[in-house]
Amino acid sequence: MEKKKTVITYGTFDLFHIGHLNLLKRAKALGDELIVAVSSDEFNLGKGKVCQIKDVDRMAIVEAIRYVDKVIPETCWEQKVEDVQKYNVDVFVMGDDWKGKFDFLKEYCEVVYLPRTEGISTTQLKDELKK
Ligand code: CTP
Repeated sequence: MEKKKTVITYGTFDLFHIGHLNLLKRAKALGDELIVAVSSDEFNLGKGKVCQIKDVDRMAIVEAIRYVDKVIPETCWEQKVEDVQKYNVDVFVMGDDWKGKFDFLKEYCEVVYLPRTEGISTTQLKDELKK
């Protein structure tokens, strides 16, 4: 039997929106199994980012998406190589706002940057809600 193709992606997924769903759907289509690393609140705080939805809830929402097979916490920048090796990852996927940033992973797996869905982001939703 051929080995399953494993895909991984990372993100915050705060105020889950259609851009997130499109990204996860397309990421899953690149393989057989999709792992999503959802950033912890602590990791975000270190980046000066405050989420509207707490990490356990963001993880539960992402986990319930039909394209997602497994959710893990993202707690630091350095964990990616370890995750790729630990989960035998074949494809690392991110939206193209990160284009080039994770090319160092090409040593370990395929790296794909997908075009973002236009016209929506968590930042934009937060700004709209403030008005
Ligand atoms: N993403 C996407 N299209 C969008 C928004 C996000 O494809 N319109 C992708 C990102 O490129 C990333 C993943 O979804 O691979 C998670 O993105 P995240 O940073 O959690 O969402 P954003 O809406 O971009 O949040 P923020 O505005 O806080 O950066």
